Amino acid sequence: MAEVLLSLDNIRKSFGAVEALKGVGFTIKKGEIVTLVGDNGAGKSTLIKIISGVHEATSGSFLLNNIPCSFKSPADAMDAGIETVYQHLALIEELDVADNVYLGRESTRGGFLGKLIGLLDRPSMRRETHKALSELHIKIPAPTLGVKRMSGGQRQAVAIGRAMTWGRQLLILDEPTAALGVEETEQVLRMIERLRDEKGMTFLVISHNMQDVYRIADKIIVLRQGRHIKTLKKSETNPQEIVAYITGALS
Ligand SMILES: Nc1ncnc2c1ncn2[C@@H]1O[C@H](COP(=O)(O)OP(=O)(O)OP(=O)(O)O)[C@@H](O)[C@H]1O
Ligand SMILES: [Mg+2]
Repeated sequence: MAEVLLSLDNIRKSFGAVEALKGVGFTIKKGEIVTLVGDNGAGKSTLIKIISGVHEATSGSFLLNNIPCSFKSPADAMDAGIETVYQHLALIEELDVADNVYLGRESTRGGFLGKLIGLLDRPSMRRETHKALSELHIKIPAPTLGVKRMSGGQRQAVAIGRAMTWGRQLLILDEPTAALGVEETEQVLRMIERLRDEKGMTFLVISHNMQDVYRIADKIIVLRQGRHIKTLKKSETNPQEIVAYITGALS
């Protein structure tokens, strides 16, 4: 029996008069792929922004490895080992792959003095990036390739690779395949499954694509109008039933 990694209890979030989340609670076990589904405005992005430190919950709490979290910023969540890949990828077009992987965390050379001067240790960043991405079976021609010249699937792979490099606990992916073609979608889904199977990584994935959801999920969490209305095990459901819960045909 896998241990619980993340446990949410009665999370509420209001924006002025709008109650985006009205008491959401569920658990994610280590090594599980959990998908978060729901119609537009159901509260999915709001929930992941709370877990990733962008918003503070109005009330309710969550535990990571049984330790209460009170993130005041995304940096706090990242320090705790939670990495988020947003739908609109925060890759910098003008930089190469290695620079993107190290964005904001540039390893500097020469300890204190190096840090002081702010010299980036490019050779070691590139070496580490190449090692990390090939361990993840991410096929990028070279860490020195500019992001501008990469396909959507390659960019998504780099963004997930970056998250994997730093996310020791939980990877949160918001619509990872929304902008991708069939073949690229397949590559990204395979990568997520492989990271779970080979590295025991834990994922929380938002998706509107029922085929993707049904394919990769171990467990499906359905939100409707800010409420957690159903948890479905993949082995006990099907895409039609998931859609029925999302739309409210089933409740
Ligand atoms: N910063 C904000 N200020 C005010 N209201 C917000 C804010 N963020 C979200 N909301 C509201 O909270 C509700 C939930 O929004 P949220 O973005 O979490 O939905 P979602 O499930 O991610 O939808 P989608 O599938 O369209 O991305 C909506 O009514 C939205 O308008
Ligand atoms: Mg959203």
